[in-house]
Amino acid sequence: MTQPKDASPAPERVLLTAQTAREFAAALFEKTGVPQPDAAIAARCLVRADLRGVDTHGIVRIPGYLKRIEAGLVDPAPEFVFEPVGPSVARLDGRDGLGFVIATRAVDHALGLAAEHGIGLVGVRNSTHFGMGATYLLQAIEAGYGAMVFTNASPAMPPWGGRGELFGTSPFAVGMPAPGSVPFVLDMSPTVVARGKIRKAEREGRAIPDGWAVDAEGNPTTDPGEALKGGLLPIGGAKGAGLSMMMDILCGVLTGARFAGDVGDQYKVFDRPQGVGHFIFVFRPDLFLTAQEAAARMAHLVKTVKSTPKAAGVDEIFMPGEIEGRCEVARLSEGIPYRRVDLAPLVEIAKAGGTPLPRGL
Ligand SMILES: NC(=O)c1ccc[n+]([C@@H]2O[C@H](COP(=O)([O-])OP(=O)(O)OC[C@H]3O[C@@H](n4cnc5c(N)ncnc54)[C@H](O)[C@@H]3O)[C@@H](O)[C@H]2O)c1
Repeated sequence: MTQPKDASPAPERVLLTAQTAREFAAALFEKTGVPQPDAAIAARCLVRADLRGVDTHGIVRIPGYLKRIEAGLVDPAPEFVFEPVGPSVARLDGRDGLGFVIATRAVDHALGLAAEHGIGLVGVRNSTHFGMGATYLLQAIEAGYGAMVFTNASPAMPPWGGRGELFGTSPFAVGMPAPGSVPFVLDMSPTVVARGKIRKAEREGRAIPDGWAVDAEGNPTTDPGEALKGGLLPIGGAKGAGLSMMMDILCGVLTGARFAGDVGDQYKVFDRPQGVGHFIFVFRPDLFLTAQEAAARMAHLVKTVKSTPKAAGVDEIFMPGEIEGRCEVARLSEGIPYRRVDLAPLVEIAKAGGTPLPRGL
């Protein structure tokens, strides 16, 4: 997480506890026909993003999801059936349900397979946007497992050397528990930034830094509006573009989901479901060594990383996911600072549907 901590004046913001934010979010989903347990899962995933400072993937996105449910493009209550395709492998047709619910259930299923066989792999088709990748890594880490959780996404950048949008901002998410130490939670878009950060800059009327995106003609731009009409730039040139293609192969080509530029953009494509695919792999950390050896080696890695001599101007070396983890601890005790203007569309929906508002909104 590279964005600085919030520093806007208090009246523009409201502090909600995680519990309040979850209840509010779940109530909004339930109002559109999502069964209570699934609404609670979606709310938990979104609020976890807010807790971790990944505000671009939090409850501010709810109106977009509700709009697709109301348009019949997301099924609020699909029946899921995991089909075994081998001792530790299953596939799942998400039936255009909410990506949060599909991915959470798929990780659960993969954990069950891994408990029995050491590894669990679930390929998912017909899913939708699942939000912050780290949510599902943490689900596995908190159960004591390592995980790779991939998704493909709607077109956002060209293949290297091309122009326009083809592959997604599909996050590369890999996690490993480190009992007694700091877990590894690498959750990164293969683009310089996730598109959510450009939407956030647009909402806040801010320019974006050079090097994040190009406009529709392929020229560099610092205007978030132009960037949203153009394309995002990959990290590391051809290497980032290749990672995004890899996500499309694992999550799309192999699972039966949409691929090769065919995944629907949740904000632009309203004539069909998104057709997102996920590739969810979890594994026991003690596959090759004892659990004690694996934990001790992970702790040694973390200690070594964190005690590396620091570059000039650096106060502390962090593990991937550590800054977000600290933000989560702080926000769990202090509350989550939401910009009132960002919550206004949710408040409007709540008022129109008779959903009670949290105090202070
Ligand atoms: N579902 C989707 O289709 C989709 C698409 C794109 C992005 N996303 C989500 O958007 C979110 C943001 O993605 P992003 O690429 O902008 O993330 P980011 O650039 O904020 O962070 C990427 C990774 O770098 C690590 N990191 C950042 N600063 C660090 C530091 N100083 N020291 C050590 N590690 C550090 C973070 O912990 C994180 O693991 C992610 O949660 C991602 O899953 C989702």
